[in-house]
Amino acid sequence: MKAVVLVGGEGTRMRPLTETIPKPLIPLVDRPFLHHVLDHLARHGVHEVILSSPYLEARFATFLEERHGDPAVTWITEASPLGTGGAVANASRHLDETFLVCNGDILTDLDLTAMLAFHRERGATGTIALTPVDDARPYGLVELDGDRILAFREKPPDRVPGTVNAGTYVLEPAALDGVPADRMVSIEREVFPRLIDGGAPMHGFVSDAYWMDLGTPEKYLRATFDALEGRVAGHDYRAPYLDHRAQVSLTARLGRWVVAGPGARIGRDAEVEDSVLLAGAVVGEGAVVRDSILGPRAEVGDGARVSGAVLAEGARVPPGGAAEGARIGPGATLATGA
Ligand code: GTP
Repeated sequence: MKAVVLVGGEGTRMRPLTETIPKPLIPLVDRPFLHHVLDHLARHGVHEVILSSPYLEARFATFLEERHGDPAVTWITEASPLGTGGAVANASRHLDETFLVCNGDILTDLDLTAMLAFHRERGATGTIALTPVDDARPYGLVELDGDRILAFREKPPDRVPGTVNAGTYVLEPAALDGVPADRMVSIEREVFPRLIDGGAPMHGFVSDAYWMDLGTPEKYLRATFDALEGRVAGHDYRAPYLDHRAQVSLTARLGRWVVAGPGARIGRDAEVEDSVLLAGAVVGEGAVVRDSILGPRAEVGDGARVSGAVLAEGARVPPGGAAEGARIGPGATLATGA
């Protein structure tokens, strides 16, 4: 079984972290998120994945050098962004039987084996994983008759419950017939609606598996804390999660939902809660960090206060500074008094 994992987006909602790190390569707890996706696929019998990214391609090269084992990775060129549909069409020469497509920014413990069996039993051209939500406003609804998909609906204006696209698909190669591989195409907005309008059997696999897309800093933090709490099958961590190469002062106060990556440092009397410190990030003496993501080698100076903030790689908050809801770009320093 093969899978295409979509990893080529710019991750604009996760800026400025994604200015230097592609979203799928941002670590989730102990390793780059893409490892979690690939390991999940391997557990369900996927032995080859096809990846492409026109964005920060070189960062993936380093990841692939370090990754070993199942599934094997085939890297293909995507010279300019093809969108979610175009990127899959661009991989079609490698796809000659039923295959999976996954968004590379979704944390899920979805039973892919059961989803494949469901797809085959129905003789579907495509099966879309669906997840029930209480509020479908941010997503757009998928309308079903039994498990057959009738239509994709626009984002509803009012808070309504419903089933929404969970970003994992099983497809037959025929689903890609006529999909161009030389321009931007959206799989959700163009390929699937066209298949449905053409009468192809498209089915929805509704499941209440864990599901979170890591599209925004808030959701990334939520997914991290859920993984720490053991809410995602296959993830077993101790909270807080402190890498053995992290240095945490004995007098620092840490909440339960804290991740400190390799080489991260938390100084004396500092307070850290509901936050992720990526590799080499530093929290100075007496500093307070809440609800924030500190990118690799980011620094929060002594006595500074940071909350709801995202610091990109090497970003700095000077000693005594205050950063609430700030976004600080790679290598940049928050202006004092901001
Ligand atoms: P935003 O800019 O914040 O919306 O993030 P994004 O770029 O990741 O877009 P979105 O969340 O809609 O993308 C869903 C998945 O498709 C993500 O895993 C992206 O990496 C991937 N993706 C989006 N656009 C492309 C593309 O043009 N090519 C490839 N190969 N993947 C893409």
